[in-house]
Amino acid sequence: MLILAIETTCDETGLALVDFRVDADADEVKILAEELRSQFSLHRKYGGVVPILASRAHRKNLPILYERIKNKFDLKKIDAIAFAVGPGLPPALIAGKEFVIKIAEELDKKIIPVNHMCGHLYSVLVAKKKKAVWQKLKKIIFPALGLVVSGGHTELLAMDSLTRFKKLGETLDDAVGESLDKAGRLLELPYPGGPNLEKLALRGKPFFSLPQPMSRQKSFNFSFSGLKTALAEKVDELKKINRFNQEIKQDLACSYQKATFESLIFKLKSAAENFQPKSILVSGGVSANLTLRKFLIKIFPKKKIFFPAKGLETDDGVKVALAGYFALKNKIELKESFSLDIDSNLDL
Ligand code: KG4
Ligand code: ZN
Repeated sequence: MLILAIETTCDETGLALVDFRVDADADEVKILAEELRSQFSLHRKYGGVVPILASRAHRKNLPILYERIKNKFDLKKIDAIAFAVGPGLPPALIAGKEFVIKIAEELDKKIIPVNHMCGHLYSVLVAKKKKAVWQKLKKIIFPALGLVVSGGHTELLAMDSLTRFKKLGETLDDAVGESLDKAGRLLELPYPGGPNLEKLALRGKPFFSLPQPMSRQKSFNFSFSGLKTALAEKVDELKKINRFNQEIKQDLACSYQKATFESLIFKLKSAAENFQPKSILVSGGVSANLTLRKFLIKIFPKKKIFFPAKGLETDDGVKVALAGYFALKNKIELKESFSLDIDSNLDL
């Protein structure tokens, strides 16, 4: 099955052409083409994604990236177009939707509406993000817990299979990535804060004590806004006494990251006690964080933990194709171009 996939939910314009070999349930994938244009430099000076600029950039990038794939492959041969219809920024999704409608009509193909978060969830399946090589999809033993930690979402799932799962909890305010990005801004790091905070934290020590959000609540929900407020107050105090220097910033970064990850692991541990999963699937942009990965492996030595392959953590077309493939396997209803809808708050 050949799927052309399009991602425009936030600040990455991603296209991919992915071949799924389904004969005898071989579950192999081959990434035939991938085009990705990041908008980091565009949003950097604003310290976060500006939706209308993201939409404008998608409109500019989509035809360019599409042409590149079209020049190399006969797109009349694809089975369907997978498109991430949400969750995401409405102007960015609308830009994607208009483009998808246009090419669906041009190629006379149907559209697989996919949930962007499912793309993250399935991103753990591909062994290595290499082009032009057939990759076996990783075999996961169920039941499993799924933890999706991205810039916009933090979701904890109990999974019976890749297509049957229920949400146990989510963030009540900031997402983990958002929280790390805000902390990055407080520590005067360039956007996006997450990866830069990780680097800075490696040079620091967790000397500052910060609150442990939601540790008294029985639910599996998360909350990170209090942690960010606590950091903002510490930064203010330190600035007042002229101690907000590089060394202190390193220690603050290390303390903040530790408190954030401890809060994630606290809920994950209690979910693991309840649901006795055989595997844990950790995905989303924040899963690129090596400190988090090491922490998880140390806490759950007996569980099989699956992370995305390097380069498959953040948004791109490949994971939209994966979500499209599993949506088709799950017999989702395909859309004609006229019936395509976006949903900026789409739930898992
Ligand atoms: O999944 P993603 O690409 O976009 C959304 O769907 O939101 O995630 C982006 C988020 C950003 O908040 C970014 O700071 C964070 O992932 N991120 C990281 C790292 N790399 C990306 N956070 C911590 N450590 C990293 N190495
Ligand atoms: Zn994402």
